[in-house]
Amino acid sequence: MSKTQFEHLFSPLQVGPMLVPNRICETTNSINSSLIPGEIDDNFVAHHAAKARGGTGWIGSETWLLNLPFPSEAPDEVGLGVGFASHYAAYQNPPFLEGIKRFYDEVHDAGSVAITQLTHLSAMWSPSAVPIIGAQDHVPHAMGEEEIEFCINSYADAATAAKDAGADGIQMHCAHETMGYCFLSPVTNRRTDQWGGGPQERIRFVVKVLERIRERIGDSLALGVRVTGKEFRRGGADHLQMREMIHHIGETGLLDFVDIDVGHCWGAPSYVPSSYYDEAEFREVGKAARTDLDPKIAVLFSGRVNDVGVAETLLKDGYCDLVGMVRAGIADPEFANKAREGRLMEIRRCVACTRCIDEASEPITLPYKPRCSINPMVGNELRWKELFRPADEPKRVVVVGGGIAGCEAARVAAMRGHQVTLLEQGKRVGGQLLIAKKPPGRDSFEDQIYFEENELARLKVDVQLDTRADIDVIKALSPDAVVISTGSVPRVPNDIPGIDLPHVVQGWDVLAGKAATGDRVAIISMEDYYETPCVAEFLAANGKHVEVFHKSTHLGSEIARYSVSMVLSRMEQAGVIVHPNLLLNEVHADGFELRSSFGEKTYHEKGFDNLVLVCGSLPQHDLYDQLKAEGSISQLYIAGSAWLPRFLAEATEQGANIGLVI
Ligand SMILES: Cc1cc2nc3c(=O)[nH]c(=O)nc-3n(C[C@H](O)[C@H](O)[C@H](O)COP(=O)(O)O)c2cc1C
Repeated sequence: MSKTQFEHLFSPLQVGPMLVPNRICETTNSINSSLIPGEIDDNFVAHHAAKARGGTGWIGSETWLLNLPFPSEAPDEVGLGVGFASHYAAYQNPPFLEGIKRFYDEVHDAGSVAITQLTHLSAMWSPSAVPIIGAQDHVPHAMGEEEIEFCINSYADAATAAKDAGADGIQMHCAHETMGYCFLSPVTNRRTDQWGGGPQERIRFVVKVLERIRERIGDSLALGVRVTGKEFRRGGADHLQMREMIHHIGETGLLDFVDIDVGHCWGAPSYVPSSYYDEAEFREVGKAARTDLDPKIAVLFSGRVNDVGVAETLLKDGYCDLVGMVRAGIADPEFANKAREGRLMEIRRCVACTRCIDEASEPITLPYKPRCSINPMVGNELRWKELFRPADEPKRVVVVGGGIAGCEAARVAAMRGHQVTLLEQGKRVGGQLLIAKKPPGRDSFEDQIYFEENELARLKVDVQLDTRADIDVIKALSPDAVVISTGSVPRVPNDIPGIDLPHVVQGWDVLAGKAATGDRVAIISMEDYYETPCVAEFLAANGKHVEVFHKSTHLGSEIARYSVSMVLSRMEQAGVIVHPNLLLNEVHADGFELRSSFGEKTYHEKGFDNLVLVCGSLPQHDLYDQLKAEGSISQLYIAGSAWLPRFLAEATEQGANIGLVI
């Protein structure tokens, strides 16, 4: 693979006074990597600077939440992200500024540029008293003139602080339900004074902010806006209206760049599009902005660009001048260097599962730390820095089970110089991902299987497929360390009369093609993440009539607001009928009985050919227990679902952690 394959991607670009070394941008992503609220700690620096060192030219790190004119007795609401508590914002806090200066220095040392995004969140403050965020009930406070002036100034104050700390560029956030967006959108801006009306009036707030920032920082830094290219919202600006506003903002001569994306904080689509969306699906908004704007204004497009080939095509075919690749860099901070060096097979490509944004907005696991389903270093950068080193003494390591936990244990152990054998009873590694990739819109999970297969081969792990391990097989390999990652099996709720009737099958078996169903299918759902929606959509896509009887209030209640709407809208489109708050009581040959999740009221259903169970899974740890009892293996580990069935990120992390310490 020659280096010139990505000649557009790796060519520098002058953006105002800022020379961006290549076209790859980490647009701002508030993954909350600093674990000290309101400060920039070592975790933050390690997380984002890894991308700069990995070759990403533009580092947007995390947003700066700005100060708001709270009445003095109002409760603090600013303490989000890198925002700071108690009526003043992070950039007014000296330790924050010291930390960010250190961070910008690291970015510059790596040869990249640092862009600071300035954000006023609008859930409580807006041009008009119209609810902003679909997922919240707040009716915001409609801003008065003094408050508007206060906010305009706070952008300029923050821009000055960013400049003093060493930023190369400033971005005013005018997308995603921020204050800038709320002034631009006809849904949220219903004012009839100078701040509202037609497009020319609605852009006034944004223009005033840009003018005020320019007054303070002059032309020494690049200045831009982040805007929504298309609202996808009833009564919102359509694509042409957005184009008109962006064009008019560009005409002021205040801008060096426009960063454009599509979507909302509550989907569908979300501006962090999941695997259900095509790569760069909304790329046309980039091309339109480029057509409308002075060519001196660089256009950055973002939205599910996880592949360097796609990024190169976007640039070559004129969709944008710069490409946002946030999750590409979360999944693999070194992807840019690997691409430039032609090491494409070594890139771990984002599967767009959205765990990163879901976790950052509504953590599943507490205490919070950033997470990525496939990159175990995310949120653990300092631990890796401390522990990742060549093994003092290479050991013989046997890993049993080629699910993701096993693959990661094997991969990391091999990277450290151990001699690793991986025994897998199936025909391919990948474990549960082999079935997770089957439903519509989830084929991206196959990318992670490819990654593991490629890396295990590159690292010379001896992968023995079709091999069932027992104590004798393991001991014959004379291991110094053994990792048991034998996974889990779908749970059968054995206490339910009739559960063993032949028309009751498992969701996993349906996906794997091991169980066929008739035309009318009832899913008994006892999980709140993606499994039930995926099984339901798979069946519906195969022409089945699907009804889900679900234990709680709605499907996917553990999926955060950024992503759950995408899942639920797909259920709607697929014609899947969901009956919430029901538990299975009893199964008969011709029907089944349910009871309320909240009481004893019972319901009877008939007319289904099959019942499909999605009821969680049971860990398979017999082999681990036997080895432990036998006692001859001094370093014995258990990983992934074999210990506790959880999510992909946890399996990845646990497996990799074992690889780190063997
Ligand atoms: C964890 C996370 C936090 C984000 N926070 C912000 C933010 O603070 N401001 C912003 O403008 N966009 C934010 N985004 C959106 C990204 O900048 C980007 O537009 C989005 O992830 C789509 O690009 P990708 O497909 O390359 O990831 C965030 C994204 C993620 C994954």
